[in-house]
Amino acid sequence: MGLLDKIFEKANEEEQTMEKLNIGIILGSTRQGRVSPQVGEWVKGIADKRGDANYEIVDIADFKLPFLGEADAPGIAAWNEKLASLDGFVFIVQEYNHSITGALKNALDLAREAWNNKAAGIVSYGSTGGARAAEHLRGICGELKIADVRTHPTLSLFTDFENGSTFKPQELHLTNVNAMLDEVVAWSGALKTLRQ
Ligand SMILES: Cc1cc2nc3c(=O)[nH]c(=O)nc-3n(C[C@H](O)[C@H](O)[C@H](O)COP(=O)(O)O)c2cc1C
Repeated sequence: MGLLDKIFEKANEEEQTMEKLNIGIILGSTRQGRVSPQVGEWVKGIADKRGDANYEIVDIADFKLPFLGEADAPGIAAWNEKLASLDGFVFIVQEYNHSITGALKNALDLAREAWNNKAAGIVSYGSTGGARAAEHLRGICGELKIADVRTHPTLSLFTDFENGSTFKPQELHLTNVNAMLDEVVAWSGALKTLRQ
């Protein structure tokens, strides 16, 4: 391949990267010893193989968010800027007392416009696949104008984790994760036109 061809190929790749949607994989738990990073990395690994969007892990813990109204920490602006840079989301949701974590609820409350008119998928885990937490999150998504897609991979603490701590997902979830991402990418692209 000649030098010019290489330059054109590189420029083409860069243009495609810039045009691609940005999807954030949001880790919903922040506690020490949490398993959400394992689950998030697994989803990102599947997502990156698709090449259809720019996927990144967004860790709520990195932003050191105060509880809403308690303090004016710089993390709040950084959190809003990060969300504003994203076209869609995949929430990694864990079930705490039949709902989402306090950390995720607070992070949801700390932004408004940055969530609006974007799509989201949910990957949840818990003793019953985190289903109750995920359903609570769907109600919140409605209020924040986040279009949550139907397909919802549910991971079991009993069959997808060893000792509840080492993530060993069953093969069967792969199809569901890809179907969920198909929907997130399609809806994120459609909703982007509303925000332009
Ligand atoms: C405060 C608390 C409450 C929990 N409540 C539930 C529950 O109601 N249902 C459930 O299936 N699992 C529950 N669990 C188990 C968690 O789903 C499990 O520990 C999971 O690994 C938590 O996600 P994390 O490791 O990312 O924090 C609870 C865990 C904690 C820490």
